[in-house]
Amino acid sequence: MGLALIDDRDGFIWFDGASAPTAIAVSRTPEPKVRPADDNLQFGTVFTDHMFRIDYTEGRGWHDPRIVPYQAFDFDPATAVLHYAQAVFDGLKAFRGVDGTIRLFRPTKHAQRLVRSCEKLCIPALDPELILQSFHALVGIDQAWVPGKPGTALYLRPTVVATEPFLGVRPSNTYTYFLIASPVGSYYAEGINPVKILATDKYVRAVKGGMGDAKTAANYAASIYAAVEAKHLGFTQVLWLDGVEHRYLDEVGTMNIMLKIGDEIITPPLTGTILPGVTRDSILTLCHDWGLKASERPIAIEDVMAAARDGSLVEMWGTGTAAVVSPVGELGFRDERVIINGGKTGPLTQKLYDAIVAIQYARAADPHSWTMPLRTSQTRKTATA
Ligand code: COI
Repeated sequence: MGLALIDDRDGFIWFDGASAPTAIAVSRTPEPKVRPADDNLQFGTVFTDHMFRIDYTEGRGWHDPRIVPYQAFDFDPATAVLHYAQAVFDGLKAFRGVDGTIRLFRPTKHAQRLVRSCEKLCIPALDPELILQSFHALVGIDQAWVPGKPGTALYLRPTVVATEPFLGVRPSNTYTYFLIASPVGSYYAEGINPVKILATDKYVRAVKGGMGDAKTAANYAASIYAAVEAKHLGFTQVLWLDGVEHRYLDEVGTMNIMLKIGDEIITPPLTGTILPGVTRDSILTLCHDWGLKASERPIAIEDVMAAARDGSLVEMWGTGTAAVVSPVGELGFRDERVIINGGKTGPLTQKLYDAIVAIQYARAADPHSWTMPLRTSQTRKTATA
């Protein structure tokens, strides 16, 4: 039986988990929204009919998993997250394959990363299996919202926030995990076209010992000022350098950074200041599969600029769930600007994008089992639950 069989107005979705079965209460919206056409999708502007929610209370643990109509929260103005940003999130996508099957891309890895982000913010552990079930349950209920056009997907945003109304600075005693879903097109207006980035030695995104490797709200808040300044100077994003010497590449915008100098593909190592990107990992795996030399090692901005000047910097791109890959066509640092690959998408960047996307839409084999078909579940009426 599949999730499509749920037709009772108020029922439960059951998952036979590794430990105990989970029952997720479902209350369907009486007023389904009109879905936008696949052609008009932007990033993160419209949301599906439902959301998943589970709450945490000290002494009781996580309780009451449920799917409810998409709705606003009614938070006390003193709610901890509004003041001290004790919040984590993740982002993953569900795709409608060319065979019509809906698949999640590496959902287990995203669930595990959310759990690690929670740890870093002192948020009580969520069972990664429950997070996974929330993905399947919400996508199952709102599966008509998974767009089908190439380049589109249903973006899932699992989030945990501290909900205790309290102005002292300490971990909250209550939390809400919620999952919302948004049918999306490309993240950047440029699509897969090259963007201009500005390396900054004036601002930093994260420092060693900080929270750079957690997907937490404050990291994104910390990026906005520099991003706005870069935009005023005609760039799309900021290339972040390390927080100590302001020399070594960290991340680009909200993505991991990769470049190709000569025959070597280089990306900064995971030393605590950068997010362990799922797309980063997928791309490194593909590079190894293809017998390419891919190194996770520190790389200094002056070496990148020198490689650009002598022509050995052949390609540069960002990697992330939202955009998959985003080629860099121009790089600015201090008062110098260099053009990369004639300002065009490089052949390896394009090949990596095509390979990942082909797996996501099931146009190609999935040798590493990265995609997970929407899981089947059993449904029962409340009365028989
Ligand atoms: C991603 O590249 O997937 C991101 O993290 C972007 C997101 C914050 C919108």
